[in-house]
This record gives sequence, structure tokens and C-alpha cells, in this order.
Amino acid sequence: MSGPDPTAAETIPARVGVLGGGRMGAGIAHAFLLAGCQVVVVERDESAAAAAGERIRESLQRSVDRGSTEKGIAALEGALETSVDAAAFADAGLVIEAVPEDRALKIESLRRIEAVVPRTAVIASNTSSISIDDLAAALEHPERFLGLHFFNPVPASSLIEVVVGGSTNQELVDDARAWTEVLGKTPVVVADAPGFASSRLGVALALEAIRMLEEGIATAADIDAAMELGYRHPAGPLRTTDIVGLDVRLGIAEELHAKLGERFAPPQLLRDLVADGHLGRKTGRGFYEWSE
Ligand SMILES: NC(=O)c1ccc[n+]([C@@H]2O[C@H](COP(=O)([O-])OP(=O)(O)OC[C@H]3O[C@@H](n4cnc5c(N)ncnc54)[C@H](O)[C@@H]3O)[C@@H](O)[C@H]2O)c1
Repeated sequence: MSGPDPTAAETIPARVGVLGGGRMGAGIAHAFLLAGCQVVVVERDESAAAAAGERIRESLQRSVDRGSTEKGIAALEGALETSVDAAAFADAGLVIEAVPEDRALKIESLRRIEAVVPRTAVIASNTSSISIDDLAAALEHPERFLGLHFFNPVPASSLIEVVVGGSTNQELVDDARAWTEVLGKTPVVVADAPGFASSRLGVALALEAIRMLEEGIATAADIDAAMELGYRHPAGPLRTTDIVGLDVRLGIAEELHAKLGERFAPPQLLRDLVADGHLGRKTGRGFYEWSE
């Protein structure tokens, strides 16, 4: 395999915007900061902006402490800006939307971004499941839009799905592939289809595992061990669902159920756990008990 194209580093935008500095937005900001970009994160209010800045600074410090970057903490922090005003994207070359997985919110957010960025700027969404073509339809210039699907947690993950919409410019796909390599990650290029490649396969496996648990076929630990030991998955489908969030997976399953049919119908056990607030690691309980 050949390494990253040495000229790719020159094509990555000098200034990158991220809308929504939550779990994913903070990780995306961190990745572009380590790659040497100026990054501005726009949040919905001052306290969310402060929390996002804190989250990113902590993960930058961890990267410095671990020796995974040669850059100093002052330079990295100096390249980070937070704001509550999308006008801060005015001179960005790339803006990635990472607000919660809500179609109406994403459409409104993408329109807000397009209203302020330069005509040449690229706009991307980190959606896990919403159609890139549906989102592109909200934009005046859909050819500059694509999906950049980062994985959680971003610093530890080596994959980015580059999701190509029907209107996405092919040159942009080539650029996006090069940028992901500059970020130290491997791109997979997929056409816009429900669940792309990763969510569709990941959720299919998880839903079957949940149905097996529901049917009393094996314990959660044994179902996971079957995949971890038998197929060398680093984490089984139920543990992975706990880490991703049961609510996140239910949302994706509902979308895939609507688009691809009954095989993606969410099991009742998943609905019940979400309704009871057992969302996985983040709430301390999902298919497993999680402590600090
Ligand atoms: N969590 C995952 O495992 C994962 C993995 C891949 C992709 N995704 C996708 O990434 C996106 C974000 O997910 P997340 O897990 O980071 O969610 P999150 O809830 O942790 O973060 C969302 C952030 O968006 C902010 N926000 C909400 N409304 C806003 C607005 N109008 N303007 C600016 N900011 C706003 C929130 O304050 C929050 O900080 C979703 O589309 C999700 O499907 C999530």
C-alpha cells in the first residue's frame, strides 16, 4: 500500500468550521487541529461553546501527553476558536455539521452554514443515517456537499466514510479522500444509500444480537464473545451498542426500517430499554452495567 499523497497536506483547508461541538464535533475539531488547521467550533449557546472548548482542550492535552503529536499545546489551543455565531465560518474552506441526528435541525443548520461561507467552501455532514441527497436538496449548491462520517471516539478510530451524493462533485470526492488521509485515517467511499456501509452492517448485526437476547438464546456476554472470539471483532454487537448509545442505534434502525423494510424493525427490547432511559455506557446501563 502506498502512503498518503505528500501534496494532500497542501489541499486540506487552512480554516475548518465545525457546527456542534458535542461528542463527535469535538473529536472532529481535535483531528483537524492535529493536522495543522485553524478550527472554529460553533455551538448553540455560550455554555455549550465553553463546554465544547473544554472538551477539545482536554483531548488535545491527552494527545500531547501521549506523544501522538509533535505540536505544542499552546499552538494547538491557539488554533482553536469557539463561537455561538455561524458568521465565524465566513472564511472557512470546509464546514462540517455535527449537530444531533434530527433531519429538520440538520437542514436548518446546513442552510445557516451555506448562508455565511464563501462560494468555494465545501460543506459536509457527519450524519450517521440521514440521506445525503435529502440534505443536499436543502442547499443552493449541492455539488459542494458530501457526507464525512467520522466514527466514535474520533481520535481512536481510523475510518471515515466519504458519502457521495448524486450531485456531489467528483473532484470534491478526491479531495475528501486526500484530507482523510492527512487526518491519519482511512477513507472508504460509499454512494448515498440508507445507513451507508457501516451503519447498515453494524445495525443489522446489533438488531439480530438483540433479538437473540430477547429470545433467550444466550446471555449478552456470550453473544458478544461469539463474535469477539469467533470472528475477531474487537467488541461484540451488544457491547458496541452500549458504547454507541442505544438511543442512537434505535434512531438509525427506525430510519433503515422505513427505507429498507422489516429486517431493520427495532426489537421491542431495544425500544423498552431506551424508553426506560437505559442508553448504554453514557447512562451507566444498557445491555451491561457500566461504572466509572
Ligand atoms: N455518537 C456517535 O457514536 C456518532 C458516530 C458517528 C456519527 N454521529 C453523528 O454525529 C452527529 C452528532 O452526534 P453526537 O453524538 O456528537 O451528538 P452530541 O449530542 O454529543 O452533540 C451535538 C452537539 O450539537 C450541539 N447543537 C445542538 N443544536 C445546535 C445548533 N442549533 N447549533 C449548534 N450546535 C448545536 C449540541 O449542543 C451538542 O453539543 C449526529 O448526526 C450523529 O448521528 C454520531
